[in-house]
Amino acid sequence: MRILLTGSNSLLGKALWETAPKVSSLILTFLPSAEPSQTRWETAPMDITDKAAVKHTLARFKPDWIIHCAALSDVDSCEKNPDQAYAVNVFGTENLVNTAKKAGLRFLFTSSNGIFDGKRTLYTERDKPHPLHTYGKTKLEAEQLITRSKVPSIIVRPNAMYGWPPVGARQNPVTWAVEQLSEGITLDMVSDTFISPLYAPSAAEAIWKLVKTDTRGIYHIAGKTRVSRFTWTKEIARVFGFNPSLVRPVKSGFFPNLAPRPKDTSFSTARLEQTIDWKPLTLKQGLMRMKKESDQLLHC
Ligand SMILES: NC(=O)c1ccc[n+]([C@@H]2O[C@H](COP(=O)([O-])OP(=O)(O)OC[C@H]3O[C@@H](n4cnc5c(N)ncnc54)[C@H](OP(=O)(O)O)[C@@H]3O)[C@@H](O)[C@H]2O)c1
Repeated sequence: MRILLTGSNSLLGKALWETAPKVSSLILTFLPSAEPSQTRWETAPMDITDKAAVKHTLARFKPDWIIHCAALSDVDSCEKNPDQAYAVNVFGTENLVNTAKKAGLRFLFTSSNGIFDGKRTLYTERDKPHPLHTYGKTKLEAEQLITRSKVPSIIVRPNAMYGWPPVGARQNPVTWAVEQLSEGITLDMVSDTFISPLYAPSAAEAIWKLVKTDTRGIYHIAGKTRVSRFTWTKEIARVFGFNPSLVRPVKSGFFPNLAPRPKDTSFSTARLEQTIDWKPLTLKQGLMRMKKESDQLLHC
């Protein structure tokens, strides 16, 4: 099975190519301005907003599947640059889907918990999306165009992800907190919004199993523990051996310049667990695995 991955230099992209099943061959694509990660897989530059480049790359590599992880996924940047967010997250996805449809490929799209308004809790795939911010709106539009296209697809919605990103990639809440706490900096963290933090390698494990099962439809992927950013960061301090009292609770209004955040986008993963042999990790389990990864690297 040949699988073309977009956004190979993303946190999730790296987790996917590091854990790809032996039976598949991967083509890792990345922005032409980026350095490809050093892996055993084939690599190719491809800007997903460039229709001709998408067509050319798919014709050249002839994959069976596209796993689409490229995105503008920083919520505040999307709010400040909505045109760019739509160009990448919606029209970039449309370029891939149109070409995939013509070539008869299967498609896995990574959407987001940001498509919900946060008025409920432990969202299921049956709950109605209603995004509050530009990022969420672009991810929902991309989902809708995929569904309308009738391309054979899996839409996964990862919750707030963390893990060790590729060199030079953007930080995530855990790498950021570890850096700040290691310098003894006090962190004001929001205690009244909730998510289900997801360790990126656990997301990759679920995605590979979904691809193998060759199922269709929408799946929520998340960690087992529903927490606020404040509780999450306290746990990061405990697991990584920093002083938890450096983490202080604040209300969401404390950061008035940020894009509007939904109150609660925690997920139920029941549908996923009924479909594949996969169990969500608790927050502590995920953080301990991440800590173990860095300890192993230190001892290499
Ligand atoms: N991280 C989360 O908490 C989270 C939660 C829910 C859903 N998701 C979704 O899961 C997927 C992976 O997220 P992530 O956080 O792992 O991603 P990420 O680290 O933000 O990386 C996104 C990647 O997309 C690339 N990219 C941006 N514009 C592109 C373009 N025009 N053409 C080709 N590549 C482009 C970026 O390249 P450069 O770095 O070179 O700019 C980057 O490597 C995304 O679809 C995201 O929306 C993420």
